[in-house]
Amino acid sequence: MDSVDFDALEHEARRLMPPASFAFCACGADDEISMVENIAAWRALRLRPRVLRDVTAIDTRVTLLGRQVPTPIMVAPTGRHKLFHPLGERATARGAAAAGSAYVMASNSNILIEDVAEERRDAPQWFQLYYWPNRAEVEALIDRLVEAGFTALVLTVDAPVGGWAPRAAREQHQPTPDILNINMPGRPMARTAYHPDFVGKVMYPATWRELEWLVKRSPIPVIVKGVLRGDDAVACVEQGARAIMVSNHGGRHLDTTVTTAAVIGEVVQAVGDKAEVYVDGGIRRGTDILKALALGARAVMVGRPIIWGLTVNGADGVTAVLDHLHVELVRAMQLSGTASLSEAVPDLLAR
Ligand SMILES: Cc1cc2nc3c(=O)[nH]c(=O)nc-3n(C[C@H](O)[C@H](O)[C@H](O)COP(=O)(O)O)c2cc1C
Repeated sequence: MDSVDFDALEHEARRLMPPASFAFCACGADDEISMVENIAAWRALRLRPRVLRDVTAIDTRVTLLGRQVPTPIMVAPTGRHKLFHPLGERATARGAAAAGSAYVMASNSNILIEDVAEERRDAPQWFQLYYWPNRAEVEALIDRLVEAGFTALVLTVDAPVGGWAPRAAREQHQPTPDILNINMPGRPMARTAYHPDFVGKVMYPATWRELEWLVKRSPIPVIVKGVLRGDDAVACVEQGARAIMVSNHGGRHLDTTVTTAAVIGEVVQAVGDKAEVYVDGGIRRGTDILKALALGARAVMVGRPIIWGLTVNGADGVTAVLDHLHVELVRAMQLSGTASLSEAVPDLLAR
């Protein structure tokens, strides 16, 4: 899949998925404005390539929380992978590991944490946590994760209640006993965030107090995902967060937010060198990745394209998507005279 064209890949994934699974993957909240604008915002940025640089050796290595990885491209946490492939997150984790990419496993996964851990190779596995109301259950989960070798907790804070996605609501996934949110308390049958039962319910009541508690309780670093403002990012870091994920959840909950491309610079500047900053939302090209890194992101995460690859070809499909983006990143670096990621600085972009 060297010549992967993401439009064609999405098309093929759509053909293979049940319509409700596709609707769940593809949807954005309300009018899908943020989802669409995320993509457009990266594309609208203009590069100022440098010429006559030696680009024969390109270095894409980066350290994430002290651990070196070969690529700044990570797999974003997306839930319920058995809706897309029978092996679920086991295949996703295997595919990410083969590409050397950090894998962020979602709370709403359909495969046990311990089984996903078996797929780990050299790249880190982190776990995306939704803070549910019972603290003892959160504690038990943290202990299990640490035991299984996960090296960071990613607390998602941008969806205390579910948004509303008309597309997914119209084509509801029907819960079945073979697809469980198996790591959640009570192992419920998987329902999407857009199930009518969830409307108006505060599912994940995390506040600053819970963040403070989590940072103290967790033996592994805490990352906060879903931040779109410099002041919030600074407050998270003051509470002990080791990294910030600038994200609007792929435009799936609150519509008409700022785009992530528009605010990554503000967050990086506010946080300074006190924490690492990553970004996701609408990253579809190597040039998008280079732009994000130039604006100060240490790494990027990719959501929907990973699901397309998973659907079409399981673990190999996930690897192919990540490898494809990596090849594009290297090419963009070569064509812009950027031999290593330390040379990806704001000056590479037009104001
Ligand atoms: C099907 C799907 C499920 C998702 N589930 C979660 C989740 O459980 N937790 C979370 O923090 N983010 C979730 N996200 C958001 C992603 O982590 C990420 O922020 C977003 O997909 C990035 O945008 P992109 O899809 O345009 O690359 C989900 C995204 C999709 C597409």
